[in-house]
Amino acid sequence: MEIKESTSLIQPYSDFIDLDKVIFKDCKAHNVRHASDMKGYYKDAAMLEKLIERGDPLHYETFECQVPQEYGHLIYGLSKLQPGVVGDECFMTKGHYHTIIETGETYLCLEGQGYMLMKTQDGQVKAEKMERGSFVYVPPYWAHRSVNTGDTPLTTLFIYPAEAGHNYGDISQEGFLKRIFKRNGAIVIE
Ligand code: NI
Repeated sequence: MEIKESTSLIQPYSDFIDLDKVIFKDCKAHNVRHASDMKGYYKDAAMLEKLIERGDPLHYETFECQVPQEYGHLIYGLSKLQPGVVGDECFMTKGHYHTIIETGETYLCLEGQGYMLMKTQDGQVKAEKMERGSFVYVPPYWAHRSVNTGDTPLTTLFIYPAEAGHNYGDISQEGFLKRIFKRNGAIVIE
């Protein structure tokens, strides 16, 4: 058997996702973002500051597998985004391009309501609705962020090429071209 230099041979294994509680059991790579990690991302910076002063609540978490970050491997995990608004803008993840921009990603929504908001560097923008069962394909070249428009956590299962990497780059400055708001109970994308 030939083992490529690019790609480690590891043993097959299983993980366990509790589909009732929607948690990744015994996950080793847990990342947490609070409101204070989101400075520069929301339209209303003053309202974000108020939120931070009022206890800096949990914003979102990711639970990732640990596999070699190499060509050929796949990274999978859960993203759990809390419900809420900053002013009237719905809670969202920072969003990113992949460092290797020609890599895609899939997302299966396990609970909650929201959108996968996507954009390209040449200004195309797309919002795909997510609810339990939605399976979103993020093609290569599209930056992607989750937005929670519901009243409960928005949890997705993601899978992407392990060498892809995350590029937050210019997103805090230029945003996603569109934002998602909740006004008088209606969802507004503008
Ligand atoms: Ni990604």
